[in-house]
Amino acid sequence: MVVHLPKNRVPLLVEESRPGRRGEKVVAVPKGFKAADLVPKALRRLTPPALPELTQPEVIRHYTRLSQLNYGLDAGMIPLGSCTMKHNPRLADLVSGLEDAARIHPLQHPSQIQGALRIMYESEQWLKEVLGMDAVSLHPAAGAHGEFLGLALIRAYHESRGEGAKRTKVVLPDTAHGTNPATAAMIGYEVVEIASNADGTVDLAGLQAALGPDTACFMLTNPNTLGIFENQIQEIQKAVHAVGGLLYYDGANLNAIMGKASPGSMGFDVCHTNVHKTFAIPHGAGGPGGGPVGVKERLVPFLPNPRIVKRGDRYEFADSSKSIGKIREYWGGFLVQLRCLAYLLLMGGDGLVESSEIAVLNAAYMQKRLVGAYELPYKQLRKHEFVLSAANLKRERGINAKDIAKRLLDHGFYAPTIYFPLIVDEALMIEPTESEPKDELDAFVDALLAIAKEDPAVVKAAPKHAPVARVDDVWAAKNLVLTWRHLAKLEERPRPAARSMVAPAA
Ligand SMILES: Cc1ncc(COP(=O)(O)O)c(C=O)c1O
Repeated sequence: MVVHLPKNRVPLLVEESRPGRRGEKVVAVPKGFKAADLVPKALRRLTPPALPELTQPEVIRHYTRLSQLNYGLDAGMIPLGSCTMKHNPRLADLVSGLEDAARIHPLQHPSQIQGALRIMYESEQWLKEVLGMDAVSLHPAAGAHGEFLGLALIRAYHESRGEGAKRTKVVLPDTAHGTNPATAAMIGYEVVEIASNADGTVDLAGLQAALGPDTACFMLTNPNTLGIFENQIQEIQKAVHAVGGLLYYDGANLNAIMGKASPGSMGFDVCHTNVHKTFAIPHGAGGPGGGPVGVKERLVPFLPNPRIVKRGDRYEFADSSKSIGKIREYWGGFLVQLRCLAYLLLMGGDGLVESSEIAVLNAAYMQKRLVGAYELPYKQLRKHEFVLSAANLKRERGINAKDIAKRLLDHGFYAPTIYFPLIVDEALMIEPTESEPKDELDAFVDALLAIAKEDPAVVKAAPKHAPVARVDDVWAAKNLVLTWRHLAKLEERPRPAARSMVAPAA
C-alpha cells in the first residue's frame, strides 16, 4: 500500500492570497444600512486586517491538500510504541459532539447539569474498577499531568505525616518514560534512576539499595516500556512500602492488562491512565486528552477540589479541607470524559479484557515474524508492545533505526517509535494495538523484512516518495523555521542539494 501524496509543498494561505478575492458574504446588511454601520464606530478597526484573500474553493482545496500530506490512522496503522495510536469508535465521537453535552458550562448550578455530573461520576466508577483503586479524579488533562497530580498527592501525604522534609527522593528504573523523571523534578524531588537487570526488569537488589527513609515514592509502568511484565511486582511493592515510600503506577500501558491485573491489585497507591491511549480519545498533536488519577483510601482526602459525590439520586460537588487544591480550571475535560464513558459502555467489561488480549496477541505475532531479521534484546515474554534492535543491521549493512523508520514512509507506513527506551541500542519500539487486522500487521512486517534486505544506499536516502525529504537535523536546528516569513527567507538562500527540505518532484 502506497499513500499518494502531493509532491510539492502546499503554499501557505498568505502566499495564495490575491487582493480582492473573497468567499461568501457573512453579513446580510439590512436595507438602508451600509455594512460599516453595523459595528459601533468606537469598535471599528482603522485599517483592514491583514488576512489572506481567497475564494471558498481555494480555501477548501488548501486544507484538503494539507490533509493529504498527513498520514493518520484512517490511512493505515500507526505502530508507535508507547504512544498507542488505535482506532477510536465513531460512536464515541458522535456522543461527545452532541449539542446537549457541548453547550453546557461548568459554572452552571449542579441542579441544571445533573446529567453531566452523572457522566463524570459513572466514569469514575468504571475507572475505579479497571484501576483497582478506591477513588478517581478526572481533573488531569494528560498522562504527564496525571503524574504531576499523583506526585503532588504523594507529597501532601508525606507532609501530613510530618515526613515531607525528609522524603526527598523519587526512585525509578532506567526504562521509565521521560515524563516520569521530568514530573518528579518539577514537583521538587530528587530523581534516583536504577539500572534494569539482564531480564530488562527492575533489579531488586538495585532497588533495595536505592530505597531508604528519604524515599518519597517509586514510579513504575507495568508492563514496562520494553513491553515486559514486571513479574517481581509483589516483592517490589513490599520493598518500597517497607521503607515508608509509596508506589506510583504510570498507567500508560494499562491497555495491556485490563481485566487481568490492576495497579491496585499490584499494591500501587496512586496511578494515572491515559484515556487517549487505553480508552477512546484521539491521541496526538497535544490533545485534547485526559489522565485520570486513581488513589488508595489514604490519599483520597488530598484529591483536587471539587469532587463529585452522589447523595441519594442527586449528584453534587464536595470539597475536602485537606485537598491539594486545583490543578486545572473547573473539574476536568467533560467532553473527553464523555467520549471515554461512551467507549467503556460500548466495550463493556468483557470487551475491555478482550481488547487487551488482542493487543498482546497482535504484538506477539509481529514480534515472532520479525525476530531474526532484527535483534530482540531481552528474552522475556512481551505484552502489548515490543522493542527490537537494528544493531545487527547497523553492523552488517550500515543502516540504523532512523534509516529504517524513514524508509517505512516510502513503503506507505508510519514509522514506529525509535531510540526509546534508551537502554536498547538502535531501538524500534512497535505497538500494533488491538485495532489492526492481521492483513495490516502482515503488510507492516513485510515492509520491515523487505527493508532489512534492501540496498543500504536506498534505505539511507529515504524517504523518496514523501512530500518532505529527510531533514538534516543539525541544519534544521541551526536554521529554525518558525514562521512563514522565515520560510520565505530560507528559500531565497542557496542550499546544498543534499540538504534540501523539499523532495525532488520526480
Ligand atoms: C509510558 C508513558 N508514560 C507517560 C506518558 C505521558 O502521557 P501524555 O502524553 O498523555 O502526557 C506516555 C506518553 O506517551 C507514556 O508512554
